[in-house]
Amino acid sequence: MTVIVTGGAGFIGSNFIFYMLNNHPDDRVICLDKLTYAGNLSTLKPVMNHPNFRFVKLDICDRAGVYHLFEEEKPDVVVNFAAESHVDRSIENPEIFLQTNIIGTAVLMDACRKYGIQRYHQVSTDEVYGDLPLDRPDLFFTEDTPIHTSSPYSSSKAAADLLVLAYHRTYGLPVTISRCSNTYGPSHFPTKLIPLMIANALNDKPLPVYGKGLNIRDWLYVEDHCKAIDLIIRNGRAGEVFNVGGHNGKRNIDIVKLICKELGKPESLITYVENRKGHDLRYAIDPTNIHNELGWLPETKFEDGIRKTIRWYLEHRAWWEEIISGEYQNYYEKMYGNRAVMS
Ligand code: NAD
Ligand code: DAU
Repeated sequence: MTVIVTGGAGFIGSNFIFYMLNNHPDDRVICLDKLTYAGNLSTLKPVMNHPNFRFVKLDICDRAGVYHLFEEEKPDVVVNFAAESHVDRSIENPEIFLQTNIIGTAVLMDACRKYGIQRYHQVSTDEVYGDLPLDRPDLFFTEDTPIHTSSPYSSSKAAADLLVLAYHRTYGLPVTISRCSNTYGPSHFPTKLIPLMIANALNDKPLPVYGKGLNIRDWLYVEDHCKAIDLIIRNGRAGEVFNVGGHNGKRNIDIVKLICKELGKPESLITYVENRKGHDLRYAIDPTNIHNELGWLPETKFEDGIRKTIRWYLEHRAWWEEIISGEYQNYYEKMYGNRAVMS
């Protein structure tokens, strides 16, 4: 099977590529990535010379480029991770979120219609359901929870989801959607909560907690997220939406205190800062559907996952220090600037 993975130089996409190449040695994996600020080619270094892997620098909104790649590769499956993914950036500048997350999704699906596909999979988010109150721990998002978004980011993801379902109903495109909760693990870009706090703590810098740090996120280790997507593209019914999460709700402040403890850093580094505009209070996924239909359950306990993650950041200091310094953005030019497309 030939699989195009868009956004594969980002956090979850790169982990998914490693997962696929490790677990499905007969599959060919093509990574399509624009290498925005969030895409880092050095993350993919371990597989760059793998015989079943190819990297292509391309914008999912570039219709001609995407069609050309489909003509060349004739993919069986497309998994779309490519997105602007940071809520705070969407609050500052929504436009690029609409372009990449909505128009880019449409371009990819048009290519799937034109050249034929076994499966188009849209990697979506639990944020399309909005938030839950803090004082109702009995409430969870199911696939039937109404779409009710808060930020430009989540609105763009919800718009894309609706488009994906419309392409299924109108054109019969064989699509699936996963809506996953907050994912954490190796190569998570250090503007997001967990890697930012690890990097800042290691540099003895302030740990900026929004509001009082009482907002709750439902954390899932990245390998479990990848496994869920792999099961969905192989065994999930076309047209279906799958919620993915692990009943692992934690308050932000407790995560930050845990990171301080694990790194032996003082809690006095914690600095409460102005709240995020429209800050969602609590996310919590009910994963019953994916469990019943595909047998998926999260396998990594949070205590183990967070330790593995912290260890990865300790062992890959150069990776995140380059990002913080902006140096990584020169990596592509330095390594591949003279070649349009890489195999
Ligand atoms: P990320 O920001 O780390 O990576 C995004 C990748 O997409 C980068 O490599 C970037 O270069 C690429 N990209 C951006 N715009 C592009 C474009 N126009 N064309 C081609 N490539 C482009 O994101 P992530 O955290 O790995 O998230 C991946 C997907 O999973 C996103 O769709 C996100 O909405 C979804 N998601 C993320 C989480 C999470 O907790 N991180 C949870 C649920 C769902
Ligand atoms: O739920 C899935 C979503 O999780 C994905 O769709 C998004 O792509 C992903 O970025 C993530 O969104 P969040 O907004 O939940 O993640 P973030 O890491 O930005 O923030 C997590 C929580 O921590 C949130 O309540 C805001 C808070 N926070 C974040 C940062 C960056 C802080 O308190 N301080 C910070 O500096």
